Amino acid sequence: MIILLIYGGASSEHDVSIKSKDYIKQILTSLGYKTKELFITKDGTYLYQNKEVSIIPNKGFFIDLKKIEFDVAFPILHGINGEDGTIQALLEIINVPYISEGIMTSAIGMNKAIFHDLLKSRFLVIPSKRIKTIDDIDKNKYVLKVSNGGSSIGVYLVENKDAIDTEALINDLKKLDDNIIMQPWIEEARELELGVIKDLEYDCEIVLGPVEIKKQSQFFSYDDKYNDLNLKILKRDEIILDKEIILKLRELAKDVFNALEGNMYMRVDFLLSKDGTIYLNEVNTIPGLTRTSHFIVLAKEIGFDNLFELLINNALI
Ligand code: DAL
Ligand code: MG
Repeated sequence: MIILLIYGGASSEHDVSIKSKDYIKQILTSLGYKTKELFITKDGTYLYQNKEVSIIPNKGFFIDLKKIEFDVAFPILHGINGEDGTIQALLEIINVPYISEGIMTSAIGMNKAIFHDLLKSRFLVIPSKRIKTIDDIDKNKYVLKVSNGGSSIGVYLVENKDAIDTEALINDLKKLDDNIIMQPWIEEARELELGVIKDLEYDCEIVLGPVEIKKQSQFFSYDDKYNDLNLKILKRDEIILDKEIILKLRELAKDVFNALEGNMYMRVDFLLSKDGTIYLNEVNTIPGLTRTSHFIVLAKEIGFDNLFELLINNALI
């Protein structure tokens, strides 16, 4: 079994993808799988063994992606140009099995504004108000972020709207993504994350978690996420939470997965406010898979051997 790890990517989360790939490669190797690597540079060039690969078959002097021998492709690409349905479309067109949600689920999962619009009638989703100009800002303390982003890149907690140059901030964010959104800041909310994995053979879902993210500061930054600063992840049996809420979160995570017609795996993130309200925050269809990533902590509930057996099986069905 050869698994083609597709990583890097023309995305602001390029470096996170490299870390995720390194860790996944280590796990797969220890489980006895063979891996090959397809690297996508920041400018979107596909490289296999340092040679440029054509993603359009028969394009002349490049290696054709279809000529690389592998059994299953595994896109480990975070953010745009990878987690958003684009690479999934390519893999569909060249007709190879892959470990990822499909085009539609990936695209909706990536775009927070669309995700909110589509799911708000069924779930209490954190509102995402589209911001075109400074005049659209109607709160004093709020979160400003790009709609298609991740890893806290392009996310700002604004504590006092008059104390910052909002226009400059909006223009800065527009360099990352044209779609800027504003979300309410939920004071002292607890961050609870779950994993859902499909078992296509038995047509059921496996729910993992929740885990709870404990941070020292009120905002969960890129450094907190990837440089181990000020961060603690509480596993399911360490979380102090009513059993009822845990069960509710597990049911909601599965319902969100099914609402998006998930058929592989994703991480579903919630916020729990002080008054006990559960808000659906977002989904990550290719969640961080670094050594310290939450999905990795979640996956340990079933073991990496079972995880990859399931994912590969799903891809090959
Ligand atoms: N977007 C990052 C990788 C995550 O959500 O884990
Ligand atoms: Mg995210």
